[in-house]
Amino acid sequence: MIITIDGPAAAGKGTLSAKLAEKYGLAYFDTGMVYRAVGLQMLKDNIDLANVVEAEKRAENLTFPKMMELSHDKDFRSSAGGNAASIVSSYTGVRSRLLKMQQDFAKNPVFADGLPANGAIYDGRDTGTVICPHADVKFFITASSEVRAKRRYDEFIAKGMTADYAQVLADVKARDERDANRKDAPMKPADDAFILDTSEMGIKDVFDKAVEIIESKIK
Ligand code: C5P
Repeated sequence: MIITIDGPAAAGKGTLSAKLAEKYGLAYFDTGMVYRAVGLQMLKDNIDLANVVEAEKRAENLTFPKMMELSHDKDFRSSAGGNAASIVSSYTGVRSRLLKMQQDFAKNPVFADGLPANGAIYDGRDTGTVICPHADVKFFITASSEVRAKRRYDEFIAKGMTADYAQVLADVKARDERDANRKDAPMKPADDAFILDTSEMGIKDVFDKAVEIIESKIK
């Protein structure tokens, strides 16, 4: 079974994905990681994020193990890392070079320890539209920008990182703008996606609703 969960930053995709992956025995691919890996390498190598050719080179050479190694860097999940990911993800040549790596995961889904999974769950912006257009169940999870900024702010604080709510909100809005307006694969729900607005829903409500939808689809 392949499930895709798309939507804007901090809408709750990661939390829902992890819970569904556990319930259905699915391997989880957080596709934002591929762009974070490219963006982080640009930051570490001191390369201007506007340098498309250098971003494409790093996308071309990215492998799954390399991405996992980079994910341990302290800046991988930082605000600067997210911003760099958002910028490089707007380049068509970067997206096309990272497509196969993302699609291949569904062919042979395995857990982190290498054991085979019952399928895969993808979390991203274009996984139901571009990466896995034939997925069994597709979701588009959203929430107001203020609610999402508060969730992201709370995550930073919980991790002991410093954060300023107004800045986090401005970042969320800037990333939404770039995701919605990039010419290649702009973020939008797939025609057959179930849309869930989580602004006023708790984690359990979202999970229960998603399970109800999955059960009705796979019956
Ligand atoms: O989800 P996350 O915040 O880790 O994603 C980092 C950035 O990567 C996003 O801001 C978005 O611009 C980009 N992205 C994308 N397509 C995806 C996943 C993420 O363009 N499928």
